[in-house]
Amino acid sequence: MSRYYYIAGNWKMHKTREQAAELAQSLVTALKDGKHEYLIAPSFTCLETVSAVVQDTNIRLGAQNCAPEEEGAHTGEVSVLQLKDLGVQTIILGHSERRHIYKEDDALINKKVKLALKHGFEVILCIGELLEEREAGKVEEVCERQTVKGLEGVSADALSNVVIAYEPVWAIGTGKTATPQDAEAVHAFVRKVIGRLYGEDAAKKIIIQYGGSVKAENAAQLMAMENIDGALVGGASLKTDTFVPIAKFS
Ligand code: PGA
Repeated sequence: MSRYYYIAGNWKMHKTREQAAELAQSLVTALKDGKHEYLIAPSFTCLETVSAVVQDTNIRLGAQNCAPEEEGAHTGEVSVLQLKDLGVQTIILGHSERRHIYKEDDALINKKVKLALKHGFEVILCIGELLEEREAGKVEEVCERQTVKGLEGVSADALSNVVIAYEPVWAIGTGKTATPQDAEAVHAFVRKVIGRLYGEDAAKKIIIQYGGSVKAENAAQLMAMENIDGALVGGASLKTDTFVPIAKFS
């Protein structure tokens, strides 16, 4: 399959079940005839509710994280088996908030990636540099490390269930977006890294989303770039009015 546009909404720690159901229902209606691929990732507590709403629609159900183990004594964690039970299809891993606030390192993220893939989930692996890393000229170094280590031990076969989201940390929730040209440069670089690891064909096929203050005003320009295949949207995914124009960009 060749590349397609894939627009995902990460609801982070927002919404009660009632609010989540309302937003999901309104997106199902608005995106029914949408031309791209879609995903919404509510909080764990809302997954069951939203699962019922998006079932048999063109919107995939995502979780924002998972535990690195299948089950056991892991207070406060959520297992891939529990996520599967709720109808979750995709797991977002390595989000910068997990990396930087909750101190998840590449090895832990890699363990989660492999476990999720083993259980048949699609994985959105998030990568991206901090502002000080960008200023120190380390964008490629950081993105390469996070990609290589995040995918360590992932087979070429399993890679077809991996999406990469490039999210420069300084652009997340700040209103600052990377310019389409700056984002494109990193996307092209990451695609090259995938090519080195998995070959040209895999590099051509892998979906690389951009994330970081994506809004209706900048979505089309970002997506016009050759190597940008979609968006991982935070703040603007919390309302139908702000998400649908991104999801329906043309
Ligand atoms: P933002 O978040 O769109 O609010 O910047 C993006 C993300 O964290 O995935």
